[in-house]
Amino acid sequence: MAATALSPSESRRVAPGGLGETGRRAFAPSDDLGENAAEVELVERSPTPDEYVTLRSGVGWPSPSTGECARALRGSLGAVCAVHDGQVIGMGRLVGDGAMYCFVVDVVVDPYHQGRGVGRAINERLESMATVGRFGQRLDLVAAAPVVPFYQRLGYSRLESDLMRKPL
Ligand SMILES: CC(C)(COP(=O)(O)OP(=O)(O)OC[C@H]1O[C@@H](n2cnc3c(N)ncnc32)[C@H](O)[C@@H]1OP(=O)(O)O)[C@@H](O)C(=O)NCCC(=O)NCCS
Repeated sequence: MAATALSPSESRRVAPGGLGETGRRAFAPSDDLGENAAEVELVERSPTPDEYVTLRSGVGWPSPSTGECARALRGSLGAVCAVHDGQVIGMGRLVGDGAMYCFVVDVVVDPYHQGRGVGRAINERLESMATVGRFGQRLDLVAAAPVVPFYQRLGYSRLESDLMRKPL
């Protein structure tokens, strides 16, 4: 099944502490960035396989081969990168069938940049992309226990159902 092509690259600059497209504060003042404080830009594009692997390893997640990562990324319905000083410091993507089922996956922010609103901004952009693209009537995701409160702050609810899995 062919995946819907990623949106044309579109960027929106948001100054630290400025307003995101939803009108809510997208990024906290980046005092901790000191003299390196710069805008964080959300770009609607897939990370490259190298960027993908680097971000995942930064939060302790293993990755398959570069080729498999590239194949996985090509299958996204949409993706967002957060760019700071030319470096991708955060990402998130949507996977699904483009009409009924839409999952948020791979939301990762480089640990150095966590706690400044980047994760929230990435999720808000993914939500906007899913709404505009009519990828489904809801978003689903699997959250590890430590990030359940993060997603609850973003409006997600825990489900009663159990996640089930069978290795192939
Ligand atoms: C989860 C993650 C993406 C959050 O990114 P972030 O940039 O640090 O989050 P933000 O700064 O945008 O936080 C948004 C809000 O959630 C809160 N928050 C962030 N992480 C939280 C956590 N683990 N528990 C509770 N609240 C949390 C923030 O305090 C902030 O609250 P506010 O809106 O009241 O100010 C980041 O911690 C990460 O990459 N974790 C490792 C990968 C991971 O587990 N990803 C999720 C896959 S399902």
